Amino acid sequence: MVKPNLKVKIGSLELKNPVMVASGTFGSGEEYGNLVDLNKLGAIVTKSITLKPREGNPPPRLVETPSGILNSIGLQNDGIETFIKDKIPFLNKVKTAVIVSIAAHSINDYAEIAGRLNKIKRVDALEINISCPNVRGGLEFSKEPDSASAVVAAVKNRTSKPIITKLSPNVKDISEIAMAVQEAGSDAVSLVNTFTGMAVDIETKMPVLGNVVGGLSGPAIKPIALHMVWETARRVRIPVIGIGGIMDYRDALEFIIAGASAVQIGTANFVNPKAAVEIIAGIEGYMRRNKIANMKELIGCLKT
Ligand code: SIN
Repeated sequence: MVKPNLKVKIGSLELKNPVMVASGTFGSGEEYGNLVDLNKLGAIVTKSITLKPREGNPPPRLVETPSGILNSIGLQNDGIETFIKDKIPFLNKVKTAVIVSIAAHSINDYAEIAGRLNKIKRVDALEINISCPNVRGGLEFSKEPDSASAVVAAVKNRTSKPIITKLSPNVKDISEIAMAVQEAGSDAVSLVNTFTGMAVDIETKMPVLGNVVGGLSGPAIKPIALHMVWETARRVRIPVIGIGGIMDYRDALEFIIAGASAVQIGTANFVNPKAAVEIIAGIEGYMRRNKIANMKELIGCLKT
């Protein structure tokens, strides 16, 4: 059999395969560059950047749970100007798609960051993070269709790059938010960000996380994320990018068969830095074994 075609399209952006590394779990790739062939990835989604630098939340900011992690990083980053100066030169050498995640507290700030990135050729697409549970107001824009679409419309107005909107599972109906951002011009949606959670130290009777609450990711959330992806993919026309506890290629295929055009690997990177490249090889092996020539045959092929 000839080599299966793993290419997928996210709006006008073509990826060499459907496997990206999720924002906040892979930096901008430098730290992983010695361990993993970054050029094999479908895309790198960078840690969310804000207009001004942010120190993030007080420690502890990570807690292991029986089947995942809780994080309360709080959008720590060096701000857009330092990102452009320090990270873009490295990313210029990487031969895969670069998707820059952006976060803000105001619609104007989202638009401003999008405007500044629009001039940078290396940035292939933007992922609008309206779903961080770890900062005050971080979920504000993801809760209602109107506020989510207002952010997308403002970003769209300042960029010619494809836009992905990253959605929160901490809402009543995630597919309704997906439909709203689609109408506002989002080229794709990625879901899910983390589920709000917490942990308590029974000896001190204090919250374990410095910020009290955090976001749960990892295998514990996979079935719920998968259900949200399936429901959303049935309702929207734009590509859905599946995220949530994907640890191996079988998990990735579950999301793709349920309707995801691509997937993002997050928590698994902390366990095995090579997880994403192993997942790409695993998907290719599955396609060969099952004589599937093209990813298109797999996306949304769930028999119900
Ligand atoms: C964080 O920096 O707190 C995590 C980002 C996110 O959950 O969107």
